[in-house]
Amino acid sequence: MKSEKIISMNKICKSFPLEIGGVQQVLFDISFDINSGEFVTIMGPSGSGKSTCMNIVGALDSATSGTYELYGKDITTLKPDDLATIRNEYIGFVFQNFNLLPKRNIMDNVMLPLMYRGLPMNERITRANEMLKLVGLEKFGSYLPTQLSGGMKQRVAIARALAGQPKLILADEPTGALDSTMGNEILKFFKKLNHDFGITIIMITHEFEIAQYTDRIIHIYDGRIVYDGIVPKNENVLLKAEKKK
Ligand SMILES: Nc1ncnc2c1ncn2[C@@H]1O[C@H](COP(=O)(O)OP(=O)(O)O)[C@@H](O)[C@H]1O
Ligand SMILES: [Mg+2]
Repeated sequence: MKSEKIISMNKICKSFPLEIGGVQQVLFDISFDINSGEFVTIMGPSGSGKSTCMNIVGALDSATSGTYELYGKDITTLKPDDLATIRNEYIGFVFQNFNLLPKRNIMDNVMLPLMYRGLPMNERITRANEMLKLVGLEKFGSYLPTQLSGGMKQRVAIARALAGQPKLILADEPTGALDSTMGNEILKFFKKLNHDFGITIIMITHEFEIAQYTDRIIHIYDGRIVYDGIVPKNENVLLKAEKKK
C-alpha cells in the first residue's frame, strides 16, 4: 500500500484566554506531516502542550492560527459540528482513563460510535463482536466496565475506537493508568494494529520507554517542537534538544 500524507500541520499556534485577562500561548508554530501507516509518538514533559496538540490533530479543538489539513481537506476553520463529522468518519480515540460508560455493558460501550453512524442494530452487534474478538474479550460483552481489570478496560476502549473502522487512532497516554505488564500488552497490541492492518497511530506519552514501541518521535517542549525524527537509541538526544531550543 502506497503511503500518502494524511496530516499536515503548518505553523499551528494555540492560545487560551486567561481569567485575569490576556492569553496564555501554549503552542508555537507547530508544523509536521504524518503519512498513512506511521506509528508516531508525541512526547514531552507534563504541561508541554501534548494534549493541546492532540486535541487539534483530533479535531476536538481548533487552532488560534496556522493551517491544518486532514486527508487533503483544510479543516482549520471548520465549525464544531463539522469537526464532529470529521472525527466520527476518520478518527478513533483512546484515553488514559478509558472513558467507558460505567453503567453500560462492554458490548454497548463498543457499539456506541456505531450508533452515530446510523448502522442497523444487527450490523452494530456483528461488528462490535468482531472488535471484542480482536482484543480477546469476546466472552465479556455482558460485563460492566467495573468488573474488568485496567488492561481489559483499555482493550474495550480500543475495540470501541476500532469499531468505526477509523483510518487514524489517537491515543493520549493510553498506558498512563496501567501497570507496566498491562501497559506493555496494550503497546504490543497497538504495534500489531499498525503493522498488520496499516492503521496510522499517534500516541502521546511523557515516557521514553513507551515511545520506543513506535517509529518516530515528535518531541515538544514548552509548546515548541524541538525534535522530529526516528526514535533515538538514547533519551539524551531529546534532552539535549530541549536545552538547545
Ligand atoms: N482548556 C484550557 N484552558 C486553559 N489552559 C489550558 C487548557 N488546556 C491546556 N491548558 C494549558 O496548556 C498547557 C499545556 O497543557 P497540556 O496540553 O494539557 O499539556 P500536556 O498534555 O503536555 O501535559 C498547560 O499550561 C495547561 O494549563
Ligand atoms: Mg496531557
